[in-house]
Amino acid sequence: MNKKSHTIQFPQTDYESINLENNQNLSEYLTVENSPILFGCRTGICGTCLVVIEGDIPPPSAEEKELLEILAPKNPKARLACQIQLTNNIDIKICK
Ligand code: FES
Repeated sequence: MNKKSHTIQFPQTDYESINLENNQNLSEYLTVENSPILFGCRTGICGTCLVVIEGDIPPPSAEEKELLEILAPKNPKARLACQIQLTNNIDIKICK
């Protein structure tokens, strides 16, 4: 049984770090109470949850990549938080 857990940190904010088990989807656990991230559709369509990720996580799907190229064409670390499965410790910053 793999119960490995990872830590999500929100640098430069007052939000406390969150521990989640391996392969958890961020959109199921992050809320306006426990994170600075706002979600809209939670299905990778609206772009509300655009963030910058520091850490090693699986690359975006073709659909996510398509939207990222429109929303943050010059930022290779930009991701849609709702599409992220946690496979490592990460830092999340709001994409400005
Ligand atoms: S919440 Fe809509 S793309 Fe993530």
